[in-house]
Amino acid sequence: MTNKAVLSSATIDIEALGFDAGAHLPVRHALTSLAPGEELRVTGTAPGWEVQLDEWCRSQGHALRWEAGAARQGERRFACIERGAEYGRWRGASHTGHSDPRAPDALAVRAARGWGLAARGAHVETGSPAFAFRLDCKDEVWADNAAEFYKQAAAAQWNPDEAIDWDVPFDNPPPVEAAVVQIMTYMVENENAALVVPARFLGQLHPRYRELQAALAIQIADEARHVEVFTRRIRHKGHEPLLSTAGGQTSLKSLLDEPDFSVASFLLSVLGEGTFVTLLQFLQTDGPDPLTRQIARLLVRDEARHVALGMSHLLYRVAREPELRVRLAQAIEHRHDALAAAGGLNEEVFDALILVAARELTPGAAAHGYARVQQLLRDMADGRYTRLVRLGFERAQAQELASLHTRNFM
Ligand SMILES: [Fe+2]
Ligand SMILES: [Fe+2]
Repeated sequence: MTNKAVLSSATIDIEALGFDAGAHLPVRHALTSLAPGEELRVTGTAPGWEVQLDEWCRSQGHALRWEAGAARQGERRFACIERGAEYGRWRGASHTGHSDPRAPDALAVRAARGWGLAARGAHVETGSPAFAFRLDCKDEVWADNAAEFYKQAAAAQWNPDEAIDWDVPFDNPPPVEAAVVQIMTYMVENENAALVVPARFLGQLHPRYRELQAALAIQIADEARHVEVFTRRIRHKGHEPLLSTAGGQTSLKSLLDEPDFSVASFLLSVLGEGTFVTLLQFLQTDGPDPLTRQIARLLVRDEARHVALGMSHLLYRVAREPELRVRLAQAIEHRHDALAAAGGLNEEVFDALILVAARELTPGAAAHGYARVQQLLRDMADGRYTRLVRLGFERAQAQELASLHTRNFM
């Protein structure tokens, strides 16, 4: 079609183009600019175009009439198409709200199974398959600033090859380097849990809640990077990972076994990753070498975002469902009871933390390292207490719950 073929805003000439060669495209396009009930005049010259147009209009739900006075030989015939209210694949289609999260119908309280993978805001054709996404209720998953968290995370991504100076010179005494390797071995399994827990929920989350979907997806990418840099730190001086304990893995398994998104976010992000932020801050200041300190500094920023997303979700949910706090408190207590027999932080990790803070094996240095780790444990409990109070727990209960958190930290 050329521009000169358009005779007026409500008349188009499809010239020699047949409906078997794409004539429906300009007709359909012209109709979309009309309101239901308005008319479009169409003319053409392709053999049989009148019959084809008639069939097409019937299939799309538009009324068609022919203008009189075009019977004479050689004169063009004009059809008048009245735009139907709904036509073609749009007829009966289910509308999935609005793509803009600020629009009132963007974030339905419940996402329909039939919307499936469609873009939010799309019209889903009748007959599209139903998808079972277990997390399809806004109140069970939502965080008001999920979009902002994704945006911040996307802007704060870092490349381990560029952000870390792997060539920085240092030489830890062998027992101190071994202590770093033990801590990193422990870190990797905790990072694996922090990756797998949100990844499992992400696969169950209805794509309608795409801002939260994106925030979880980039959080998972963060964790993959953390596993990478800790592994590289382990191998930096030619070592292999050291001990993974039954107690540590039992604690992490209890996170993977939690089926409720909010309870899992609470245990993993608010308590576990929150405690991890304090541990990383400790390594940022007390790490024995500049490489370990650099890694810790970069991870603190990522983990602080993960904690903030978890807090944002829980604040959203407890504001609507204050009794959720009872379940959250029970989750800590049950986990504490279940893990009571599994032991606490393994001796290897605990001793390794003392050794990295001591940096050498003299009695004076060991005393300093021990005092630093005692302070670390107090700082961790204080952080948990502060977050619990922000979530609306009474101070005495927050104190109690902060102290019941797993001794594995995560
Ligand atoms: Fe992490
Ligand atoms: Fe994390």
